[in-house]
Amino acid sequence: MKPTIGIALLLTVLQVARGQKVTSLTACLVDQSLRLDCRHENTTSLPIQYEFSLTRETKKHVLYGTVGVPEHTYRSRTSFSSKYNIKVLYLSGFTTKDEGLYTCELRLSGQPPTISNKNVSVLRDKLVKCEGISLLVQNTSWLLLLLLSLPLLQAMDFISL
Ligand SMILES: *[C@@H]1O[C@H](CO)[C@@H](O)[C@H](O)[C@H]1NC(C)=O
Ligand SMILES: *[C@@H]1O[C@H](CO)[C@@H](O)[C@H](O)[C@H]1NC(C)=O
Ligand SMILES: *[C@@H]1O[C@H](CO)[C@@H](O)[C@H](O)[C@H]1NC(C)=O
Repeated sequence: MKPTIGIALLLTVLQVARGQKVTSLTACLVDQSLRLDCRHENTTSLPIQYEFSLTRETKKHVLYGTVGVPEHTYRSRTSFSSKYNIKVLYLSGFTTKDEGLYTCELRLSGQPPTISNKNVSVLRDKLVKCEGISLLVQNTSWLLLLLLSLPLLQAMDFISL
C-alpha cells in the first residue's frame, strides 16, 4: 500500500471516529416559547462542547452552552434538555425581538478541534407550532375524512348485504 493511501485511509477512519456532526436544527413555537431541536451524531465518548447562539444584525449572542458565556438577558429565559443524540433548548417569551439566525454548534476537543454547526433562520410570522400532528391533520383533513368514512361506508355495505 502506498503511504499516501495509508495516510488517507487513516485520516478517514479518524474522521469517522471523531465525527460528531450536527445533523439538523429546527425551530418551532410552543405556547410563547421558541423550541430549538438540535439533532446530532453521537459516535464518540469524548466530551463534547456545545453552544446555542443567536445572530442578529451581525451580532452574535450566546444563549446557552458550554463554549461561550450565555448573555445575562437570556440566562433566565432558557431551559435545556438533552438526550443521547438531541439537544433541545427552549427560549421563553419569544417575540419579534428574538428573530434572527439561530445556531447550534458542537465542538470536539482534539488536534485540530472539530466544529460542526447548523443554522436556522427564525421569523415570528413564519414559525410553526410544535405539534406537527395538528398541522398535518389540517392539511390532510379531506384525506382524514375519507379514511374515517371508509369503515362507515364498509359498514353500510355490510348492512346492505
Ligand atoms: C452520547 O450518548 C451517551 C449515551 O449513549 C451520552 O452519555 C452522551 O452524553 C451523549 N453525548 C452527547 C453529546 O449527547
Ligand atoms: C452558520 O452561520 C455562521 C455565521 O453566519 C457561519 O459561519 C456558518 O458557516 C453557518 N453554518 C452553516 C452550516 O451554514
Ligand atoms: C399544505 O399543503 C400545501 C400543498 O399541498 C403545502 O404547500 C403547504 O406547505 C402545506 N402546509 C403545511 C402546514 O404542511
